Amino acid sequence: MKYKNLFAQELYAACDEKLGKEEIVQRIEKPKHEELGDYAFPCFDLARLERDAPNRIAANIASRIDSPHFEKVEAVGPYINVFLEKETVAYEVVRKILQEGSHYGTSNLGKGGAVTIDLSSPNIAKPFSMGHLRSTVIGNALALILEKSGYRPIRINHLGDWGTQFGKLITAYRKWGNEAQVRQNTIKELLALYIKFHEEADLTPSLLDDGRKAFKSLEEGDPDAVALWKWFREESLQEFNRIYQLMGITFDSTNGEAFYNDKMQRVVELLEEKELLTESEGAMVVEVDDHLPPCLIKKKDGATLYATRDLAAALYRYETYGFNRALYVVGNEQSLHFKQVFKVLKKMGYEWADQMHHITFGMMLKDGKKMSTRKGKVVLLEDVLKEAIDLAKENINSKNPSLKKKQIIAEQIGVGAVLFHDLKNDRRNDIDFSIEDMLRVEGETGPYIQYTNARACSILRKGQFQSEVDSHIIVDKEAWPVITRLNEFPMVIDRAVKEYDPSQVAKYVLDLSRSFNKYYGQIRILDDKKHLNARLQLVSAVSIVLTEGLRLLGLHAPEEM
Ligand code: ARG
Repeated sequence: MKYKNLFAQELYAACDEKLGKEEIVQRIEKPKHEELGDYAFPCFDLARLERDAPNRIAANIASRIDSPHFEKVEAVGPYINVFLEKETVAYEVVRKILQEGSHYGTSNLGKGGAVTIDLSSPNIAKPFSMGHLRSTVIGNALALILEKSGYRPIRINHLGDWGTQFGKLITAYRKWGNEAQVRQNTIKELLALYIKFHEEADLTPSLLDDGRKAFKSLEEGDPDAVALWKWFREESLQEFNRIYQLMGITFDSTNGEAFYNDKMQRVVELLEEKELLTESEGAMVVEVDDHLPPCLIKKKDGATLYATRDLAAALYRYETYGFNRALYVVGNEQSLHFKQVFKVLKKMGYEWADQMHHITFGMMLKDGKKMSTRKGKVVLLEDVLKEAIDLAKENINSKNPSLKKKQIIAEQIGVGAVLFHDLKNDRRNDIDFSIEDMLRVEGETGPYIQYTNARACSILRKGQFQSEVDSHIIVDKEAWPVITRLNEFPMVIDRAVKEYDPSQVAKYVLDLSRSFNKYYGQIRILDDKKHLNARLQLVSAVSIVLTEGLRLLGLHAPEEM
C-alpha cells in the first residue's frame, strides 16, 4: 500500500494538485506484465483537464517525478510506469515482516467496533447441510479477517431450534421412536423419523393435526413435550459440536430461535405502537414497499414466524452488543427474508438497520446438481470431513511414513482441504463439491499451500539466519515477484474486509505460494553461503505470511507434512 501511496503522492505534486490524492490512488493500476513496471498511471483524465494530449502529459509528469523509492519512471504512450527501487523495497518489506511476525497486516481499521456475525445456524434434528457448512466456513473466516482489522467479531450460532417441525418430530418419536437408537445416532434417527412422518402423513393426513397439536403443546410449555424438545436439541448439539471441534470453530453465543420466544411479544407491541402492523387474510403483516411482498409477523393462528424471531434477535443483539455492523452469513435463497427484516427495522425507526448486511453465498452442487438433504439422500458433513482426513492420512502414509503426529496433521490437511475448497471461490458463486479436487497437492487447494509452507519450514530447519535483516536482501532477481506479493498482504486484508470476501485472502495465499514455488524452483537456496542469510530471511517472511493467511481462513499450517 505504502508504495502505491508514495507514487500517488509524487503524482499529486507533479500534476500541481490538479487531481485529488484519492482520485489518483483509485486510478493507479497494476501493469499486466511485470516488465512494464510495478505501477502505472493513465493520464487521460489529466489530459482532459489540461486540454492536452495524454502522451505529452505523461511525458511531462514522468520527467518531474524523482524519488529514492523509484528505480525508473517512464512514460509509455498515455501511461506513466514506475519501477520500484527493488533493494529498498525488499529490505523494508522483509524487515517489517520479520519484525512484526504474525502481526504483519494487522490494522486498527475497525477501532474495536463490535460486529455480530450470524453464522452456521443449522437446524436441530436435521443433518448439518452443505449450506450450513458454507455459512460456517465463510462466517468464521470473516470473523478472523475482521478481527485482524481491529473489529471485535461476535460469532452467533442462530440455531434453528423452534418451529412446527418439532411438533411433527415429537409426534413421530412418540409413535415409532426408540430412545437408545436416538441416543446413539441422533441426527440420522431423527431424520429417519421425520421422513417417516411425512410418508405416513401422505396416507393418514390426520397425523398432520397431531403434529400441529404437539407443537402447540410445546409452545404452551407442556413438560413432556418440552423435555423431548430439550433432549433432541442437546443431542443434536453434541453432534454439531463434534463437527465444530474438528473445524476448530467456537461461538460467542448459541442462542437459537427458541431463545426469542419470550422476546417477540415486545416486537409485536412495538410494531403496533408505531402503527406498522396491518391485517392481511387473517395474518398480521408489515408492508415494506411496493416491490417486496409484505413481511409476515404473525400467522392466522397466532403463531409467530421466522421473521418475527429475526426482528427480536436484531433488537436483542443491538441492545446486548451495541454492534457497529450486523452480518448474516446465509445462502442466497433467503435474500428476500433479510431484505424484509432490514426494511421493517428501518421503518421502526432504527438507523442502525443500515448497518445490517446479508452476506450471501451460492449453493454447493454435486455433479452440477443441488445436494438434497431431503428424501434421505444426505451427504453428512461429518462423513465428508472424515473421508478427507482418511485420504490425507493415506497420502502421508505413502509419502512421509515416518512423520510424527500423523493423526493431527492428517486432520489439519483434510479439514483444511474442505475449508479452502469453499473459500477460494467468490462466495456468491455456486461451487462444485469434489473431495478428490479438494485434496490434490498440485493446483488450487489448501494442501498445496500447506505443502508450500511446510517446504519453506523445512528449508528454515536446514539453515541458520540472523534476525538482523540484510540490507541487500534481494540477491536474486527471481525474488522480486515474491517481495511484491509479500508487500500486498495488508491491502488484500483491507479488500477482504471491504467486500466481506475471504476469497481475496485465499487467492492471495495461492498467488504467494505459486510465486514462492517458482522462486524455489529457480534458486538453490541453501547452496551459496554468501547469500544464505538474505535468502533464508525471505523464506522466513514467506512462511510467516502463508501461516497467517491460512489462519485467517481457519486453516492450520503444519510445519511438516
Ligand atoms: N436455520 C436457518 C436455516 O437453516 C438459518 C438461520 C440464519 N440466521 C438467521 N438469523 N435467520 O435456513
